[in-house]
Amino acid sequence: MSSINYSEKIPNNVNLGEDRTLQRALEGWQPNFINWWDDVGPEGSTNHEVYLRTAVSVDPNGWAQFGHVKMRDYRWGIFLNPGDTNREIHFGDHKGEKAWQDVPGEHRANLRRIIVTQGDTEPASVEQQRHLGLTAPSMYDLRNLFQINVEEGRHLWAMVYLLHKHFGRDGREEAEALLQRQSGDENNPRILGAFNEKTPDWLAFFMFTYFTDRDGKFQLSALAESAFDPLARTTKFMLTEEAHHMFVGESGISRVLSRTAQVMKDLKTDDPAQVRAAGAIDLPTIQRYLNFHYSVTIDLFGADQPSNTATFYSSGLKGRYEEGKRTDDHVLKGQTYKVLEVKDGQLLENEVPMLNALNEVLRDDFIKDSMAGVGRWNKVLEKAGVPTRLVVPHKAFNRQIGALAGIKMSPDGRVVSEAEWTARKAEWLPTPEDFAFVASLMGRVVGPGKFAGWIAPPVMGINRQPVDFEYVRFN
Ligand SMILES: [Fe+2]
Ligand SMILES: [Fe+2]
Repeated sequence: MSSINYSEKIPNNVNLGEDRTLQRALEGWQPNFINWWDDVGPEGSTNHEVYLRTAVSVDPNGWAQFGHVKMRDYRWGIFLNPGDTNREIHFGDHKGEKAWQDVPGEHRANLRRIIVTQGDTEPASVEQQRHLGLTAPSMYDLRNLFQINVEEGRHLWAMVYLLHKHFGRDGREEAEALLQRQSGDENNPRILGAFNEKTPDWLAFFMFTYFTDRDGKFQLSALAESAFDPLARTTKFMLTEEAHHMFVGESGISRVLSRTAQVMKDLKTDDPAQVRAAGAIDLPTIQRYLNFHYSVTIDLFGADQPSNTATFYSSGLKGRYEEGKRTDDHVLKGQTYKVLEVKDGQLLENEVPMLNALNEVLRDDFIKDSMAGVGRWNKVLEKAGVPTRLVVPHKAFNRQIGALAGIKMSPDGRVVSEAEWTARKAEWLPTPEDFAFVASLMGRVVGPGKFAGWIAPPVMGINRQPVDFEYVRFN
C-alpha cells in the first residue's frame, strides 16, 4: 500500500481504480478544483516551472521527489499512511475495540463537521497567500511559498477523498462547498476566523506559517489518533508535509531578525526609525506582528469548555496531541484541568472536568511548542549581541473566542481598562502605519541568489541545491 499509483488521473495509494463510482465522482470534482486554483490560487504563476517536491510514497525514508513542474500540473492525489488491520482504538469509551474502517452512523454528523472544518482551512490559506508571489524577497522564498500552496491544495484533496468515500451525497455537497467559500468573503467566508484574515506581506506570511500552520500540526495530530482509521492515516501523512510549512515560518523570521540585528549593529542603534530608514524591519514591528498572529491562532482552538470536546474524545473521534505517549488512563473521567476564567473583570483559575477542557489542553500544548521556536528566534538576537527579546503575549491577550474574549489584557498579562486598551493598542498590535511600512519593503526580488534587503539569505538551499539555484523558471 505504500507505493503510489501515478498511472491514474488521480494519483493514489487507496486502490481508487477498484471503486469506479468513487473514482468517477472524484474525477468530476477534479476540474472544479483546477478552476478554483486558476481563480484564486497563486496569482500570475501559470507558466512558472517550480522546483517542487511531490509525494511518491508514504515511506518516511524517501517519500518525495523533486523536479521542476508547472503548479497546475502538480500531481495532487490521495495518500494514506499504511494501515494496520489490528489497530485498536486507544482512548475514550471504545478503548480496546477495533478501529473503524467506516463511519458509525451515530458519529456521522460530528465526523463530517470535523473533516469539513479541517478541509476548509486548506484552500483558505492558498487564497490568503495568493498575491504574495508578486512581492517575493527571493526566488528561494517564492519556491517555498508555492510548495506550501500546492501542499495545502493536496490537503484539501485528502479531506475531499474522505467526504466522497464515506459521506455519500452530503459528503459530495460539502466537497463542492469547500471550493465555494472564500477567505475574507463577506457573504460566504471560510469557517474559522484566522482563515479570513489577510496575509498582506511576507512578514505576515512567515508569522502565519510559523503559528497558524502549527495550529494545523496540533489539529492534525489530534485527528491522527482518531478511531476512524482512514482519517487517522490520512492526517498522519499530512503531518509529514506540514513540517516544511512551519520550517518556512521559523527560518523566515530568523532570517528577518538576523538582517535587522545586522543593521542595528552597523548603525549602533535600536531606534526603530533608523532601522526602518535603513530598509530593515524594526523589532517592535516584528513583536506586534507576532502578538497578532499568536493571538488569532490560539483562538482557533475554540472555546475553553465546550461540551462537544467531551463527546469528540469519549466517542474516539479526536484524541489529544501525542495521545499514545501519555501515561494516564486515556478515558479522563473524573479528572480535572485548570482553565482561566473571567470573574468581575478579573482573571481567575478554575478547575473544570478535563473532558470539557480538551480544547484548552491542546491550546496549551500548542503554546509550549510555539514558545520553543520563539526561544530559537531570541538566540539569533542574542548571538548578534542585541539585548531585545521577542515575547509571546499572555494567553488572554486580544482573544475573540471563549471566556477570555470578555476582558482586555495587555501582552504582559495585566487586565486593562477599555481606555488603556484604546490608548495603547498601537504599541501592541500592528498599526496601519506598520502595514504600510512593511508593504513599502515588499519589492519583487527573484533573480537566482538575490535577496531583498530586509531579509538574510538562508543557510542552505532546498534538497541540497545551492542557495542560488534556479528554483523557479519563469518562462
Ligand atoms: Fe494543510
Ligand atoms: Fe500547512
